[in-house]
Amino acid sequence: MGSSVEQNILVTGGAGFIGTHTVVQLLKEGFKVSIIDNLDNSVIEAVDRVRELVGPDLSKKLEFNLGDLRNKGDIEKLFSKQRFDAVIHFAGLKAVGESVGNPRRYFDNNLVGTINLYETMAKYNCKMMVFSSSATVYGQPEKIPCMEDFELKAMNPYGRTKLFLEEIARDIHGAEPEWRIVLLRYFNPVGAHESGRIGEDPKGIPNNLMPYIQQVAVGRLPELNVYGHDYPTEDGSAVRDYIHVMDLADGHIAALRKLFADPKIGCTAYNLGTGRGTSVLEMVAAFEKASGKKIPIKLCPRRSGDATAVYASTERAEKELGWKAKYGVDEMCRDQWNWANNNPWGYQRKL
Ligand code: NAD
Ligand code: WQD
Repeated sequence: MGSSVEQNILVTGGAGFIGTHTVVQLLKEGFKVSIIDNLDNSVIEAVDRVRELVGPDLSKKLEFNLGDLRNKGDIEKLFSKQRFDAVIHFAGLKAVGESVGNPRRYFDNNLVGTINLYETMAKYNCKMMVFSSSATVYGQPEKIPCMEDFELKAMNPYGRTKLFLEEIARDIHGAEPEWRIVLLRYFNPVGAHESGRIGEDPKGIPNNLMPYIQQVAVGRLPELNVYGHDYPTEDGSAVRDYIHVMDLADGHIAALRKLFADPKIGCTAYNLGTGRGTSVLEMVAAFEKASGKKIPIKLCPRRSGDATAVYASTERAEKELGWKAKYGVDEMCRDQWNWANNNPWGYQRKL
């Protein structure tokens, strides 16, 4: 189903994991898309595969621009030649551990990049933004499920960039109420497009659970370290709210439609999660079932800074965006495995 008027969306970080999946859905929904990405954590092959997935006709509505948000000129170049109706802002660095060792890189990339983006948007009077926030802004929540009006805390420099950027968005809207900004707090994005052509392809040894399990399944890593087996949960391992990346992609379409339709949206945060918690050991079992592969595990001490259990309240997104996650853990593992099995070395063409 296409939108009646062709709206033009700038997608920063559109070559990345969540970006590529969202761009596929945007094109299918009839939007025109321009990506800006510096390919710091992605490869152009991912964009080529997006083109392949949507086919030659929709591909004509996709433009890729190599550029870095830290260079205002790179953003200006795009806005000076076309009008954007809204921006979906994914571009950012996201590795928690790296941010602890190199906070300046995170503040420079995530904060300076975003401020440059806001400045240029304001200059060209484009004042609608969907921003990639994160459940990390809840820190170690005292209560679950996490509700959007909980107190926010950051546990590390990466989390601080998300918290600051949320505050910056609220201040911008406070000063200039015509801005419409949706802050999407993703829980734990996993899975891949059902085609198995696009998916997550982290550089180096993965930090996150699912890419790690995936690399054990294809034989790139020998075993999974399970961080923590003495949590006060049913099986002792930590609980998270894993969400299929295609559900997340659809959440962005719902957020965009809300931005266009609701002049009173202001600056509003929404959780994007399933509302269900799954433990590390349950995730391992689900992946083994989906893949038919044994995932050897090693029980290890807790990882510092990790919370016991985090999952979303999905009420606000359901009520106000009309969005609800469709997929469960079995589908997440099925699609993650399909991507892994077809692309054991990610986007690299040669093994
Ligand atoms: P990703 O690394 O796959 O994608 C981010 C993209 O942004 C990459 O293609 C990278 O090259 C690009 N980029 C980074 N800095 C840039 C810059 N200065 N200029 C231009 N391009 C730049 O990450 P992702 O998983 O797709 O995450 C997208 C967004 O969602 C990020 O902001 C991330 O913090 C946020 N988020 C991700 C998760 C997760 O677990 N994946 C969870 C919550 C929030
Ligand atoms: C999940 C669970 C680990 C790896 C992170 C960021 C958060 C957000 C999402 C961006 C935890 C355990 C992990 C491994 C393990 N990203 N684990 N062995 O920590 O919930 O959230 O990604 O915004 O900001 O912090 O996700 O996938 O790293 O961990 O046992 O090799 O899996 O200890 O309990 P997390 P994760």
